[in-house]
Amino acid sequence: MPATAVVGAQWGDEAKGKIVHLLAREAQVCVRFNGGPNAGHTVSDAFGTARLHLVPSGALYPHCRGVIAHGVVVDPWALEGELGELKAQGRSQPRLFLSERCHLILPHHRVLEEEEGTAARLGTTRRGVGPAYTERTARQGLRLADLRHPGHVRERLEELARRVGGFDPHAVARELSRFWEGWSSSIGDAQGLIGDALDRGEHVVFEGAQGTLLDLDFGTYPYVTSSTTTVHGVGWGTGLRVELDRVVGVTKAYTTRVGEGPFPTEDHGAVGEWLRRKGNEYGATTGRPRRCGWLDLVALRYAHRLNRFSELALTKLDVLSGLEEVKICTSYRVGGRRVEEFPATVEELAQAEPIYQTLRGWKEELARARSPEELPERTRAFLTWVENAVGVKIQWVSVGPGTDDVIVL
Ligand code: GDP
Ligand code: IMO
Ligand code: MG
Repeated sequence: MPATAVVGAQWGDEAKGKIVHLLAREAQVCVRFNGGPNAGHTVSDAFGTARLHLVPSGALYPHCRGVIAHGVVVDPWALEGELGELKAQGRSQPRLFLSERCHLILPHHRVLEEEEGTAARLGTTRRGVGPAYTERTARQGLRLADLRHPGHVRERLEELARRVGGFDPHAVARELSRFWEGWSSSIGDAQGLIGDALDRGEHVVFEGAQGTLLDLDFGTYPYVTSSTTTVHGVGWGTGLRVELDRVVGVTKAYTTRVGEGPFPTEDHGAVGEWLRRKGNEYGATTGRPRRCGWLDLVALRYAHRLNRFSELALTKLDVLSGLEEVKICTSYRVGGRRVEEFPATVEELAQAEPIYQTLRGWKEELARARSPEELPERTRAFLTWVENAVGVKIQWVSVGPGTDDVIVL
């Protein structure tokens, strides 16, 4: 299976990192194609817990090359900090290659994010991601390839320091030169590298960041991120027409969201608290508590329609153990009308009241289960319900953070 995409089916943090890592066991290349250091992908393996922001999850394996394609906005300081953390865990240095067309996140982007008020209004990750994409679209950005021309970079930084402020242009220019010295041999034609790998029949895993409902166009606009987070991001963010053999949608057994914006199944009571505590729902990038609620099939069906998943990975099923009953939202009521489709405006979504199917819960802890037969009957009933309602097979069930805590169905 040479080309596989892994995409979040919800509002991010579905455990894509864990699933990508699993799929990359037999991959030669793992590609990040969208977002930037706003992502926080967790992989728990023998070395410990890696929190990845820019490094592709598959690149933790020495056999797998990590590619950061041009759709990703790169913060060199964040990248180096992340590599330092991986080294401190005793891991070998990932083999990375970056597209020369990647736009840079620079110190003034974080300043702009605060000043414009987007950070507070949307509850962003405050990593400068939105302003970096804005400048790219406005044709004002700096790209990795520009680091070949230090004079040009210095001029741009001086101009930005005058206009935006908040940083020393000379110090930043020096740091960028140092970065270029260390990295220039790993920066270049990423789409060529990925295309050659695909031509050789190598297995390439494309690792989505964020989730479908945070997509710039198809998410809950304006409470979204600034990139293409669906499977279409593979073309958008690599520049290649990739024939994908598999498109794996990752969904939790419930729903979480971090930051602002409507969330119909959000539970402000005991269930939300249960999910947050048992699921340890605190952001991998910012540490913020995540908002929690039941699984939303209106949203999941919508994600399936956009991405045409070939299969689903359902994660954190272990978190539901011990609840008396488990609910699944099957449709919404908006202004007295029953609605099956995910609305296009946040105004409508904010009014949506979930209509639930209630299933009986199960007491058994699932963390040790390794085969479908070890799952309690009621757990299987839950999975069947989801499969039938969405119309796509659940291929994996994840029952714990570890690399082996997974059941193949
Ligand atoms: P990503 O952004 O989609 O890669 O997801 P995150 O890493 O932000 O969040 C997923 C969190 O759940 C991480 O802390 C994982 O270690 C953890 N995790 C992953 N799979 C499971 C699971 O099946 N059960 C439990 N309890 N935790 C899991
Ligand atoms: P991973 O890849 C969850 C959210 C932020 C905010 C909105 C915009 O780990 O799933 P941004 O900083 O991108 O401008 O913030 O998007 N957000 C995420 N939420 N997981 C993520 O990434 C996210 N990346 C951004 O909380 O609501
Ligand atoms: Mg995350």
